[in-house]
Amino acid sequence: DIPVIAIDGPSASGKGTVAALVARALGFHYLDSGALYRLTALAAQRRGVALDDEAALAQLARNLDVRFEGGEIWLDGERVSDELRTERIGNGASKVAALPAVRTALLERQRAFRQAPGLVTDGRDMGSVVFPDAATKIFLTASAEERAQRRYKQLMEKGFDANLSNLLEELSERDARDAARSVAPLKQGADAILLETTHLSIDQAVATVLACYQA
Ligand code: CDP
Repeated sequence: DIPVIAIDGPSASGKGTVAALVARALGFHYLDSGALYRLTALAAQRRGVALDDEAALAQLARNLDVRFEGGEIWLDGERVSDELRTERIGNGASKVAALPAVRTALLERQRAFRQAPGLVTDGRDMGSVVFPDAATKIFLTASAEERAQRRYKQLMEKGFDANLSNLLEELSERDARDAARSVAPLKQGADAILLETTHLSIDQAVATVLACYQA
């Protein structure tokens, strides 16, 4: 059985950074599942598909021409890694992610990342829906203020303009939508370990996940 480490949690909690470093430490593959929802939103924007046209969005999601390579993401042959991280696309992703047909369309694509020697993945429903048999399930979170700070820093580093109080508002809105939806709502699973990172460094969070996996 190929082991999976599933790290779920709210927006900008740092789960992506932690998951990628855990994958590197173990020599495992890494899947950023949120990128697939972001790619669906970006593809929809480019093709003029409305963010509530469930059938058309599911079709887009099923047929995404995407390549993950060396930490970069390509859509239809174009490098889109930076554009994917914008709040505009994050909000679009949260809207398309609420549609059951879109989630179903992305299911097999996500499971295909489970390859030897193992997979570390982050998202909202990695431990509950996509990989319910994951070896280790973590719910990684931090206070809303700390998460807004982390997202602010990330956007500034990428050269995007950002406003801290707007970010805090957008993250809260998005978390509320992610938690309220009927399919795969954002919440800590009963079998997931809570990792509260408000006062933890990235290295401490990575070490904690590794310890949980190796326990
Ligand atoms: O970390 P952040 O929330 O900013 O971004 P993300 O993880 O890339 O997720 C973007 C949006 O995709 C989230 O707001 C969720 O609505 C959705 N998502 C999801 O529904 N299920 C996943 N496994 C991953 C992301």
